[in-house]
Amino acid sequence: MKNLFGVLPNGRQAHIYTITCGNLEAHITDLGATLVRLFVPDRAGEKADVVLGFDRAEDYLNSTAYFGATVGRNANRVKNGEFFLNDNAVSLPQNDGKNNLHSGPDSYAFRLWECKRQEENLVQFSLYSPDGDQGFPGNAEVSVTYAFTAPDTLQITYDAVSDKDTVFNLTNHTYFNMAGHDKPELAMEQILCMPARFFTVADAESIPTGEKRNVADTPMDFRIPKAVGRDIGEDYEPLKLQGGYDHNFEVFCNPCAILTDPVSGRSVAVSTDCPGMQMYSGNFLAGEIGKDGVSYTYRGGVALETQFYPDSVNKPDWPQPIVRAGERYHSITAFTFK
Ligand code: GLA
Repeated sequence: MKNLFGVLPNGRQAHIYTITCGNLEAHITDLGATLVRLFVPDRAGEKADVVLGFDRAEDYLNSTAYFGATVGRNANRVKNGEFFLNDNAVSLPQNDGKNNLHSGPDSYAFRLWECKRQEENLVQFSLYSPDGDQGFPGNAEVSVTYAFTAPDTLQITYDAVSDKDTVFNLTNHTYFNMAGHDKPELAMEQILCMPARFFTVADAESIPTGEKRNVADTPMDFRIPKAVGRDIGEDYEPLKLQGGYDHNFEVFCNPCAILTDPVSGRSVAVSTDCPGMQMYSGNFLAGEIGKDGVSYTYRGGVALETQFYPDSVNKPDWPQPIVRAGERYHSITAFTFK
């Protein structure tokens, strides 16, 4: 099913595509290849929309929350918006202080993608990103496919190729609230299980210092499941500097994260081929009016963004998101709901 979502300031139309499988239903717009709604039943069959989002297309253009969006070419931060690729300086827009965040104000999150294919359980979007786009080298063909691959699993597949060596590090920026997007007060009570043994320590601008720190004996340890909000107020420097959880954790094994609402029992398990996952506790949410008029208050959702470690283009010892000319970037993240 395809419906009009809204008319953008440039006069172009954004559409919303509905895909289903079993009891799951997802609404995805070509604006930012964004997951707008996701209906998941609980044990009793009670459905809730478990992702934060907007009802109007233009609201996505006026927000820097990146609700449900596809972020690229490079997710997360690049220090000073600068790095070297093949000894050439690459310069990205400075949109987060002097750093680059999510590739800048012209992130793929704000573009109108082209719908290439739609089936009952699948929708695929593509985007042409020209040489020099956001500062990145290479003409690139990028595609994102949302597919229900099982009655309980929504899989997101990223594919891209460029005619020059470049960076591909795409993510999906969905904020989950397994109690339902309209219950922001319950988000921090959800139970997170994360096998990660270390996280990347960052400075006050959220740029990694290069240190990978063991989570043991810190509030960053989710190897034994606990509520996201249980230790968030602890006097621990990384939590103070980032204003809560907004850190990249290693993907040690899959699923790399399971988030469960203890009341309804609804849960999402994240599996990925990426080396890292940013766990962000919605510290910058400030009452944005979202779907159904709901006010998304402070810490009213949890983003689980699979990706390379932040600023890895400036950290040669870390896994690199560099893709050579003509080589295929192919990455899969799956969300399984129970
Ligand atoms: C990412 C960042 C956060 C914040 C959000 C968007 O998750 O890590 O600091 O900028 O995006 O609001």
